[in-house]
Amino acid sequence: MKMLVSMGRGGVGKSSFIALAAKYFIEAGETPLLLVDVDPDQSLGEMVGVDLKSAGILSISELLYETFLEEGGTAAGMPPSERIEVKIWEKGLYEGEHFDFMSIGTKYIEGCYCLPDAALKGALERLTKNYKYVLIDSPAGLEQLNRRITPKVNDIFTILDPSRKSFEHVKRAYRIIQSVNIKFDNIYLVGGYEFPDELGEKAEEETGLKYIGKIEYDEELRSYVLQGKSLLELPSNSPAYVSVKRILEKAGYISLKQLLFPES
Ligand SMILES: Nc1ncnc2c1ncn2[C@@H]1O[C@H](COP(=O)(O)OP(=O)(O)OP(=O)(O)O)[C@@H](O)[C@H]1O
Ligand SMILES: [Mg+2]
Repeated sequence: MKMLVSMGRGGVGKSSFIALAAKYFIEAGETPLLLVDVDPDQSLGEMVGVDLKSAGILSISELLYETFLEEGGTAAGMPPSERIEVKIWEKGLYEGEHFDFMSIGTKYIEGCYCLPDAALKGALERLTKNYKYVLIDSPAGLEQLNRRITPKVNDIFTILDPSRKSFEHVKRAYRIIQSVNIKFDNIYLVGGYEFPDELGEKAEEETGLKYIGKIEYDEELRSYVLQGKSLLELPSNSPAYVSVKRILEKAGYISLKQLLFPES
């Protein structure tokens, strides 16, 4: 299993990056795939055509609340992390044709309950092992890093906007990740749709991290988001999609299909 995480300031394109990465892995046949929405705004669902409410799926926060605060944390028999894992399989996992989806939700982000935290960590560790790729969409704030729900990730894609603050954000994120001891293989810099590609080198100098390309501006993607259409349905030649594909390939996510049929 490999875990990919998006990061960056508000509105830079984190969620659309994750949606387009999902499109890439689905089209390459690199499944099973799990998408995890950590953002309380829950915009990733709409971007991949999932409506948790109408599917009757609860957020992880709701399940933690139900399991540990309503039912009490000390029911005999099953250890806490197994109890929450069972609940997630039952009511917290949207199982789609091409990918599964879960949302962390808000209560969890706002409150801090040590037992649920620890239980969730254990549950996620086991649950995510069932997938080839786990794609995590982060909120703009960095607070969620302190929770360390995922103590080990593979690649972190930090999306840049064209402001000084963007570089500061990356440096701060990097410090927090190290100080809370989240293990990772790579942190990549990615230019957001408004980021001038020429500044890639400067971004590298400022942060000491590797810049692996820019997400192209895409009018069609914008109108899809406005209409609430799934980005998975964007045409394969959509500029944003093509650029995300290139970025992932640069990060080493080259599918067998790509290797065998590079033109496709
Ligand atoms: N490649 C793109 N080209 C043009 N517009 C884009 C592109 N990617 C995203 N956008 C626009 O930017 C807006 C924000 O995108 P997105 O929701 O992916 O960002 P985010 O970083 O996840 O935001 P938040 O911090 O609110 O979670 C979208 O509504 C969309 O209209
Ligand atoms: Mg988002």
